[in-house]
Amino acid sequence: MTDEGLAARLRTRMERVEEALSGHARSRAPFVTAAASHLMTAGGKRFRPLLVLLAAETGEHPDADEVITAACVVELTHLASLYHDDVMDEAELRRGADSANARWDNLVAILTGDFLFGKSSELTADLGPDAVRIQAQTFTRLVEGQILETVPPGAGDDPLAHYLEVVAGKTGSLIATSARYGAMFGGASTQVQEALTAYGEIVGSAFQLSDDILDVASESGESGKTPGTDLREGVPTLPVLMARAAADPADARLFELLDGDLSDDGRHAEALDLLRKHPAMDEARAYVVARAQEAKDRLTVLPEGPVRSALEAFADIVAVRSA
Ligand code: IPE
Ligand code: IPE
Ligand code: MG
Ligand code: MG
Repeated sequence: MTDEGLAARLRTRMERVEEALSGHARSRAPFVTAAASHLMTAGGKRFRPLLVLLAAETGEHPDADEVITAACVVELTHLASLYHDDVMDEAELRRGADSANARWDNLVAILTGDFLFGKSSELTADLGPDAVRIQAQTFTRLVEGQILETVPPGAGDDPLAHYLEVVAGKTGSLIATSARYGAMFGGASTQVQEALTAYGEIVGSAFQLSDDILDVASESGESGKTPGTDLREGVPTLPVLMARAAADPADARLFELLDGDLSDDGRHAEALDLLRKHPAMDEARAYVVARAQEAKDRLTVLPEGPVRSALEAFADIVAVRSA
C-alpha cells in the first residue's frame, strides 16, 4: 500500500478488529474458549476483515462502528468454515498449527465451528435485518459450494465449469460479502456497493484458485498447510483440470496416478512432482491473473486515488501470490 495515511488508518482499525475478535472467541466454558481461540491465535492473513475496512473507505463514514463489527462477522464466519473444512479435508495442519480435528477430534472441530458460526450470527444481528439476510445467503452459498465439491459433475457437465461454481460458492461468496459490507456500512452509494460486491466475488474466486495452485506448488513452511492436500483428497483443482483438458499422451503416468489411490505416499509424491513441472501450472496462473484484471475492471466506478489503487493492489496480490 503506497498511501501512508490510508495504511495507518487501516492498521489502527485492524487492531480494534483483533481486540474484538479475541473477545468473540470467549465462552462461559473454558474448554470452548480454548478450542475456539486455537486457530484464531494461530495466525491467518485476515484478508476478509481487511477487505471490509478497505471497502469502507469508498464511503462517507469508513470509521463507523458497524464497519468493525462487519469485519469481525466475516472473519468469524471464515474461521468457523476452516474448522469444518479441515474435518472434510482430513487436514492436520492449519495456520501453521495442528488443525482442531488433529489437536482434538472431529466432534470438537465441528462443534467449535458451530460455536463460531453462532457468535458470528449474534454479531450480525447487531447490524440489522439486511445484514442478517446477506449473511444467511452467504452462508448458504458457502456451504453449497463445500457440498458441491464432494459431488462429481454430472455426466455431460464441464468439469471446469463445475469447479468454478464450487469456488465461487465456497470462497467467492464470503469475500464478495466482505467487500459489500464494507461499502454498505461505510456509507457508499448503491452503485459502489454493487460494483464492490462484483469485485469481491471475482477477487474471492481468484483467491481460491491461487490457493489451489499453491497447494501444488508451495512448501508447508510458506502456507502453514500440508501441500498436496487437494490431490490426496481427490479434489480436482485448476491445474489438474487444465492438465486433463490438454489430454497430452505424454501425461499418461500423471493421469494413471491421479485416477488411482493417492493416499499412498510414494504415488502422491510422484503425482505432485509431475504436476509441479506441468505447463498447466502456468496456464492456471495466467487464468488467475486474467481474473484479477477482471476484478479491477469493476473498480472504474470509483474515483482515482489511494483507495481505488489499494483495491487494485489487493486484486494483484491475489494473483501474484501463486506466481
Ligand atoms: C483459506 O483461506 C481457505 C481458502 C478460502 C483458500 P485463507 O487463505 O484466507 O486463510 P487464513 O485466514 O489466512 O488462514
Ligand atoms: C476452503 O477450501 C474453503 C472454505 C473453508 C469455505 P480449501 O479446502 O480449498 O482451503 P484450504 O486449502 O484447506 O485452506
Ligand atoms: Mg481444506
Ligand atoms: Mg476444502
